[in-house]
Amino acid sequence: MKPIKKAVFPVAGMGTRFLPATKASPKEMLPVVDKPLIQYAAEEAVAAGVDTLVFVYGRTKNAIVDHFDKAYELEMELESRGKKRMLEQVRSIVPSNVDCVFIRQAEALGLGHAVLCAKPVVNNEPFAVILADDLINFTQQPVLSQMVDAYNYQQCSVLGVERVPEDEVNAYGIVSGESVGDRLSQVSGIVEKPTVEDAPSNLAVVGRYLLTSRIFDHLERTQRGAGNEIQLTDAIASLLSEQRVLAYEFKGKRFDCGNKLGYLKAQVEFGLDHGELGDDFRDYLKALNLDTNVTGINSKSGAA
Ligand code: UTP
Repeated sequence: MKPIKKAVFPVAGMGTRFLPATKASPKEMLPVVDKPLIQYAAEEAVAAGVDTLVFVYGRTKNAIVDHFDKAYELEMELESRGKKRMLEQVRSIVPSNVDCVFIRQAEALGLGHAVLCAKPVVNNEPFAVILADDLINFTQQPVLSQMVDAYNYQQCSVLGVERVPEDEVNAYGIVSGESVGDRLSQVSGIVEKPTVEDAPSNLAVVGRYLLTSRIFDHLERTQRGAGNEIQLTDAIASLLSEQRVLAYEFKGKRFDCGNKLGYLKAQVEFGLDHGELGDDFRDYLKALNLDTNVTGINSKSGAA
C-alpha cells in the first residue's frame, strides 16, 4: 500500500459555537498561545511524513491562505531589523519540501462533503484528515504519527478514537468493534451522534482519520444525514462493507477548541507547557490563588 503523503484540513465549517470570533475568520485560525490551531495541525501532519497540505476552505478564505503563503514584506522587515529568530519562525511555517493546496467548498454541506472536495488532489492515494479544532497534546509522539505507525503495520483505514463520558456520545461519531491489539479495535459499526440509548459504545471518533481513497466512492453516494449534512461517518459506515477499518485509541490529551470552554482549557495547558512563558504563567496562576474563589475583575463578586 502507498504511504500517507497528503493531509486534508477541512476548514470550511461555520464555527457557530465560537461566534462572534468566527464571523470573518475560521475557528482554525484561533491562536493557542502563539500559534493558530491550523498550524499545530499542519505541524502534526508534516511530522507524520505528509508533504502535501490540502485546505478545504469556505467563506473565510484569506486568513488561512495568507497564513501559509510567503509574507515578503514581513520577512524583509524582520530581516532589516535583524530579528533572526522571528524570521525563522515565520519562514518555517511551511517547510520547503511541503506543498499547500487550497480548494473551495462552495457550500458548507458537511464534513463528508468537505473531504469529497479534496478528491481531485488526493486521487487514488490514502490520506489523512485532520480537524484542527481538535487540538491534541502529546508527550512522546504526535497523534497522527502514532496512527501512521498503525496504518503502516495494518494497511487499512485507521480512525483516531477516545472514550467519552456516556452523556456526551450524542456529540460524536461512535464506533463499535472488537479489540484486535493494544489500543486497536476492528470497527464493526459506526454511527453519527447517536442517543445515549442507541450508542453502541462510548468510543468516539475525534478529529483524526487515515482513509483509503475508496472513501470517495462512498462519499459520492452518501445522502445528507445527521444535521442535514453529508457526514463522513456515514461514508465510513458504508466503507466497512468492503474494507477493514480500525479504531486506534491514541495517547494524548485532546482539547475541543471548537467550543469556548475547551479552547480556554487548551490555552491554560499549552501556556503552562510553553518553553518561554510556562514558568511565568505558572507563577501568575499561583498568584491568582484559585482555591479562594477568585473571579474576573468585572464579574459580580469580583467587581469593586
Ligand atoms: P463542526 O461539526 O465542528 O462544525 O465541523 P462547524 O460548522 O465547524 O462548527 P459549529 O458546530 O457551527 O460551531 C467539523 C469540522 O468539519 C469542518 C469544520 O471546519 C470542522 O473542522 N467542516 C464542517 C467543513 O469544512 N465543511 C462543512 O461543511 C462542515
